[in-house]
Amino acid sequence: MTAKISVSMMCADIGKLPETLETFRSCGVDYLHIDVTDGIFAPNFTLGTDYARRLRELSAIPLDIHLMVERPEDKSDWFGPRPGEYVSVHYESTPHVHRALRRISEAGARPMIALNPATHYRVVEHLLDDIDAVLVMAVNPGFAGQKLIDATLKKISDLRGWLDAAGYGRVGIEVDGNVSFTNAKKMREAGADIFVAGSSSVFDPEYSLSDAIGVLRRSIDF
Ligand code: DX5
Ligand code: ZN
Repeated sequence: MTAKISVSMMCADIGKLPETLETFRSCGVDYLHIDVTDGIFAPNFTLGTDYARRLRELSAIPLDIHLMVERPEDKSDWFGPRPGEYVSVHYESTPHVHRALRRISEAGARPMIALNPATHYRVVEHLLDDIDAVLVMAVNPGFAGQKLIDATLKKISDLRGWLDAAGYGRVGIEVDGNVSFTNAKKMREAGADIFVAGSSSVFDPEYSLSDAIGVLRRSIDF
């Protein structure tokens, strides 16, 4: 699958949002990654429903909403998911994972199952017909600026091989957390195709946004 960039909006400077979104448009960024945390499932409060709705008014780039919340089946509709957008729910966040994913597809959006670093990818075995992608967390959820958990690289490659062997080549793999220019290449080699780009790459202060996007794209498009 072609590599896609999903920029982590929790890392964006809210004071420069219009020009940041214009740069993303002109650089062909594929998704705007919206990290949502409830302070319970993930120990932070990040972005919310009003922010997501406002982004839709400011940009045509589809959202990639990452729900790091308990009982996401009761909350995904609050974001007004739309066709073309991803909405990910954590396997670990509810006993009703199937219902949560079905709620997203019924809204016309693309359901994605997110896995914490310690969760084995085989837990999605009975969900393969209900997902468009698997989100592999490469850090523990909730905060930017963390370091890659090395074991997740093998998890990505094992998952890719398992999906392809089961005839689910259509199911994508998103990787989220410390997607640096160096890590992104390894993640791509392992089989990831959607890259959540935050403080480790696109928002690295050493680069302009457009330069960073170019360096990241060269790291994953080979
Ligand atoms: C982690 C967040 C990501 C990411 C931010 O919960 O979901 O958005 O870590 O990017 P980095 O890791 O590069 O700061
Ligand atoms: Zn995320």
